[in-house]
Amino acid sequence: MSTHIAAEPGQIASHVLMPGDPLRARWIAETFLEDPTLYNDVRGMLGYTGTYRGVRISAQGSGMGQPSLGIYAQELFEQYDVETIIRVGTCGGLSDRVKVRDVVLGTAASTDSAMNTPRFGHVTFAPAADFELARIAASVAEERLLPYVAGGLFSSDQFYNPDREITSTLARYGVLGVEMEASALYTLAAQFSRRALALCTVSDHLLTGEETSAQERQESFEDMIIMALETIVHLEHRSA
Ligand code: HPA
Repeated sequence: MSTHIAAEPGQIASHVLMPGDPLRARWIAETFLEDPTLYNDVRGMLGYTGTYRGVRISAQGSGMGQPSLGIYAQELFEQYDVETIIRVGTCGGLSDRVKVRDVVLGTAASTDSAMNTPRFGHVTFAPAADFELARIAASVAEERLLPYVAGGLFSSDQFYNPDREITSTLARYGVLGVEMEASALYTLAAQFSRRALALCTVSDHLLTGEETSAQERQESFEDMIIMALETIVHLEHRSA
């Protein structure tokens, strides 16, 4: 077991879907995976492994924010040899290029976090999605007619950001949505030479004030989970 995950070696699949909410990890496992087994409940950060269309896949909660995701992603990459993490979450829409229920395929993740300062000093590293995963996820969405927009995310350390200007500045620079985890995930995937992608449904829109209902959130979340699971199946088949 690692410091925060109670799994034995081999209990976690090479490919992991990572929602922020651990109860979403349980829901993903119970709804989409065959023979799901719970491998972690330390701190309630549930993790399950099962199979989807014959491919072994885990669903692991990350908690909210980059420090929390950073703990789980690093332990998965470093101690459980995980190859792929797809974050499946929500974001606030920043740009008129997205509307609620769209999936933002996060090609890059800007951040206001200081987490990379000890890694790169005065250099601003550009955390980016794995191109292969992004390419496959886009083609899965196109085949299935799932509404998605590819572009930048803003991974903020503050949900309640007192700086109201920053999101409009970032939107002018093409950033589509604000969330709180992708940048740390992309940085850790780069550090360990693994694949990562963040998919985020737009749950609320900062420009229009529009919000999704609980029912809409559930439906768009389901579509996004299928997009993530099918991406992993396609990735496995192309590398087989
Ligand atoms: N800010 C940060 N994270 C989010 C938001 C938001 O507005 N909406 C969904 N996740």
